[in-house]
Amino acid sequence: MSLPLRQERPDDAPAIHALITAAFGQEDEANLVDALRQDGDLWLSLVMEGEDGEIIGHIALSRLKSPKNALALAPVSVTPKRQGEGIGGALIRRAIKEARSKGKTLIFVLGDPAYYTRLGFNVETAAPFDCIYAGDYFMALELGDEKAEVAPVVYADAFGRLG
Ligand SMILES: CC(C)(COP(=O)(O)OP(=O)(O)OC[C@H]1O[C@@H](n2cnc3c(N)ncnc32)[C@H](O)[C@@H]1OP(=O)(O)O)[C@@H](O)C(=O)NCCC(=O)NCCS
Repeated sequence: MSLPLRQERPDDAPAIHALITAAFGQEDEANLVDALRQDGDLWLSLVMEGEDGEIIGHIALSRLKSPKNALALAPVSVTPKRQGEGIGGALIRRAIKEARSKGKTLIFVLGDPAYYTRLGFNVETAAPFDCIYAGDYFMALELGDEKAEVAPVVYADAFGRLG
């Protein structure tokens, strides 16, 4: 996947909202990203641009209240017509790289294990961590060599306001 990946700019917000809504077929996840941004909890918001400069992919990493130095990955969105081309994978790999380069220790994700285990996430890594989302779909990826401190996983407030 060699299309350009970049940080969101302030004027991207409406296009990102539209993309996420189209990918999920509902507005909840787009509203979540808007709320995270407004609250200052959006740690990373990356977009992929298509051939004409339109936004065709997006990923968000948000700050967790706990554990320290850990992030939540959600949501990942690819425009319906371009799904299955590796765009989602490219966004996730870049987000992981950014988090690792900034000294983050862990990324948590709630998603389909068939998809996320290919990218290094697993249920076993998340298992010691208490979380309201804990279960078969709750995964984590350790970013450093050192074991991260085990503490309850507390998502940013915007997740609690999800419909
Ligand atoms: C999930 C999503 C981000 C993946 O992005 P993508 O660019 O389509 O995926 P990639 O091209 O990187 O990977 C494609 C592979 O993942 C699989 N895959 C795609 N979406 C999947 C999903 N939700 N669950 C399991 N596997 C999935 C495909 O079957 C494909 O597998 P194959 O290579 O064996 O054929 C994208 O399909 C999307 O926006 N879906 C709607 C929103 C959503 O469900 N987001 C994820 C939850 S946060």
